[in-house]
Amino acid sequence: MKSRALLGLLADGQVHSGESLAASLGISRTAIWKQIRRAMDEGIRIETIRGKGYRLLTDMDLLDQSHILQGLGVPHRSAIELMVLDEVDSTNAEIVRRRQDPSTGRIPVCIADCQTAGRGRRGRPWQSPRGQNLYLSLGLTFRGSFAMLDGLSLVLGVAVAEALEHQGVAGVGLKWPNDIFVGGSKLSGILVELQGELEEGVVKVVAGIGMNVHMTDAVDVDQAWSSLARAMPEHRWCRNELAASVINSVLGAVDEFAERGFGGFRERWQSRDIFAGKPLVATQGELSGIGRGIDDSGNYLIAEGKELVKVRAGEISLRVQS
Ligand code: BTN
Repeated sequence: MKSRALLGLLADGQVHSGESLAASLGISRTAIWKQIRRAMDEGIRIETIRGKGYRLLTDMDLLDQSHILQGLGVPHRSAIELMVLDEVDSTNAEIVRRRQDPSTGRIPVCIADCQTAGRGRRGRPWQSPRGQNLYLSLGLTFRGSFAMLDGLSLVLGVAVAEALEHQGVAGVGLKWPNDIFVGGSKLSGILVELQGELEEGVVKVVAGIGMNVHMTDAVDVDQAWSSLARAMPEHRWCRNELAASVINSVLGAVDEFAERGFGGFRERWQSRDIFAGKPLVATQGELSGIGRGIDDSGNYLIAEGKELVKVRAGEISLRVQS
């Protein structure tokens, strides 16, 4: 979005003269006017006050790198390399590309205002409209084997759920393996992708988190979805604060997972399990039974009569039997 810096100046909702805006951005007043027109064409409401200037009427929640960094704990701030992009195909894809460059030794984290090819689990697209939601990816490296990935995927779900609770969201649930639900609908999803060649004892992954924040309309979403704006309309959500909260929580959880494994997360996952005690059916295969939570490795357990059947993430997806 060309008018991003301009909107940043107008974001305080005050009247700004064309002259002062032009001086701040080092461009002409005509260029300011063109950017105002373009922003208005994109649906942003700006009032033109004759002889005085411009005032932004649309409530904008712009991404801002320094705001996000300020919200991070000091060790986390220095542990990451944060990229805030206006537009990208997919933040997961961007992390993969950036990792090809010589590494700074820091954890790459990418956030974008919109994605043109956001991807979800099972090859589904992820709706990523501009300015509405959080699209965030982290490039993580672990010592160990691929077996740890099942646990990691659940750990990330716990981390995002805890970040939301920290921001005051009540009733956050987890749908195995790591969808985040509020009020019976999906609010946030996580896509963990393996990156690079198999290297002995080193697992490189990209963890992508999508969270619906301001979105109140969406086309082509094939499941019940929610957003923070829908769940808590009275609250003024700030994507920078949410991003900082998610990054803090994920980095903390990932450190704990790398040091001590999945054990400490089992109860934290289980206490938010939306499938517990419900009659479930696998969407592929013949499996059906009652949800009984997860085992020590993060497999889902289903009681089929007296037998407990283990379901591994990635093999199958579950839904409540209708
Ligand atoms: C799901 O299907 O539930 C997972 C959705 C993951 C979406 C996020 S948005 C940021 C990152 N970039 C992507 O292209 N996908 C993930």
